[in-house]
Amino acid sequence: MWSALLVSFTLLAAAAVRVEGAPEAAPSANTITLASRKVPRGSSYVPGLRKRALRPFNVPLIDFFLGTDLQWYGNISIGTPPQAIPVVFDTGSSTLEFVSTQCGAPCGNQTAFNVSASSTYVAGNSTVTLQFATGGGVDPVLFPEEYQLTLLNGTDTVTIGGHSLPGQQIFTILNQTEKFLLDPYSGIQGMSATGEGFFGALAERGLPSLFSFLITPKAAGNAELTIGGIDKSKFKGELTYAKLPNDADGTWELPSPKVTVNGKTNPILAQERVVILDTGTSNVLFDTNTTETIYSMISPNIKPFAAEPGAYGIPCSELPGLDATISISFTSIEGKPFELTIPSSELNVGPFASNTSVCQTLINAFDTVALVGGSLFKHYYSVFDVGNQQVGFAPNGF
Ligand SMILES: *[C@@H]1O[C@H](CO)[C@@H](O)[C@H](O)[C@H]1NC(C)=O
Ligand SMILES: *[C@@H]1O[C@H](CO)[C@@H](O)[C@H](O)[C@H]1NC(C)=O
Ligand SMILES: *[C@@H]1O[C@H](CO)[C@@H](O)[C@H](O)[C@H]1NC(C)=O
Ligand SMILES: *[C@@H]1O[C@H](CO)[C@@H](O)[C@H](O)[C@H]1NC(C)=O
Ligand SMILES: *[C@@H]1O[C@H](CO)[C@@H](O)[C@H](O)[C@H]1NC(C)=O
Ligand SMILES: *[C@@H]1O[C@H](CO)[C@@H](O)[C@H](O)[C@H]1NC(C)=O
Ligand SMILES: *[C@@H]1O[C@H](CO)[C@@H](O)[C@H](O)[C@H]1NC(C)=O
Ligand SMILES: *[C@@H]1O[C@H](CO)[C@@H](O)[C@H](O)[C@H]1NC(C)=O
Repeated sequence: MWSALLVSFTLLAAAAVRVEGAPEAAPSANTITLASRKVPRGSSYVPGLRKRALRPFNVPLIDFFLGTDLQWYGNISIGTPPQAIPVVFDTGSSTLEFVSTQCGAPCGNQTAFNVSASSTYVAGNSTVTLQFATGGGVDPVLFPEEYQLTLLNGTDTVTIGGHSLPGQQIFTILNQTEKFLLDPYSGIQGMSATGEGFFGALAERGLPSLFSFLITPKAAGNAELTIGGIDKSKFKGELTYAKLPNDADGTWELPSPKVTVNGKTNPILAQERVVILDTGTSNVLFDTNTTETIYSMISPNIKPFAAEPGAYGIPCSELPGLDATISISFTSIEGKPFELTIPSSELNVGPFASNTSVCQTLINAFDTVALVGGSLFKHYYSVFDVGNQQVGFAPNGF
């Protein structure tokens, strides 16, 4: 069923950003500039103002499942009076954008923010068109024109956890291509390590500067985002923390000295790489060599799927029983190595629409960045500590 959009919304917004009126450059998934995901910025967190006056709160998350777990989303409220808008809370981006009534029919399948019904909405005058890549990497043949959003900047009050935060920067969707109609959520709330938007505003008011995810498989349900704290009832044992590199610049990422497959590694997998931690993407991205090396250690029959550059597949009948435990090594703040492991059960992402006898496998080849997403976070409680620029993990039992 689902394939290309697995590598979805979040990272790929950064793949090609073009401001209307700017010279047209052909968007390419191979020219990701991480800087572009930070443009434009909202208010940022000011460490000196931390007062610890506010209490943590939970946002329940719903799993968008389409043959496989794809995205986890929850409500944020916009405007006066507040309108509940479902968004993906995405550690891989930094801005708030969602469908609005300015869009009309092209957004007709999603909950729209009614701009006319909000007394505090202020429309901006800057329009941006974003194109999203669809996975890409092996062969730069992409279909970005099928995944296009037009956004208008503005400001409005954002309400979350009972806190009303006026004047937040928002981007309303004016137009989108039909591929987005399938999404049960209306947009994304970026949760970058810079602590922007509503989160930065809450931190300035004294909320502890961290947030934590319990991301779960569909059958388990009860996924949640805890803003301003850690829900200790959701995991056993201790959290292991790792520090972001000094040059992370707002990106949740960690250096990794090696990857192992079923307990084995080799010189290609033991190359140091920086891995982005992206709750808004479900698949895993590695460069082509790493991807093909990992697959060769799982089954010689996992092959590139020609119709979708960067994607790989195997006849579905060959999947049962394949061992595909993928562990990514990191170093804790105490200097000890630790691993985060994606179990074999995540290998199968479901049949390709264009050939349902072939099942897509978890890793997409992408030569610009390495990234892990929902398929890893499903197995760990994760703490994104903006104030201390560190990330913590503990097995969540799933
Ligand atoms: C969001 O709020 C709406 C309206 O209150 C509610 O029906 C819906 O279930 C909520 N969605 C989520 C993901 O919490
Ligand atoms: C948006 O709000 C305005 C003002 O309350 C109302 O007249 C209009 O019907 C609403 N539009 C939609 C699509 O709900
Ligand atoms: C929209 O963006 C333009 C250009 O950056 C800026 O001048 C304007 O203040 C913004 N408007 C709002 C409402 O944020
Ligand atoms: C856009 O809005 C900003 C803020 O209101 C204003 O300073 C700027 O002149 C406007 N730009 C255009 C092109 O209208
Ligand atoms: C919306 O985008 C579609 C292409 O996806 C385009 O054909 C249409 O003209 C756009 N509509 C507006 C109002 O810009
Ligand atoms: C509209 O949303 C429904 C329910 O989420 C979904 O089943 C349907 O496929 C969507 N329509 C389109 C055109 O994507
Ligand atoms: C991929 O591997 C080949 C042969 O092992 C090597 O020549 C090439 O430089 C590698 N490419 C990258 C991007 O590491
Ligand atoms: C689907 O994939 C299988 C396995 O690679 C192949 O044998 C078959 O010809 C493909 N079918 C179509 C319709 O492309």
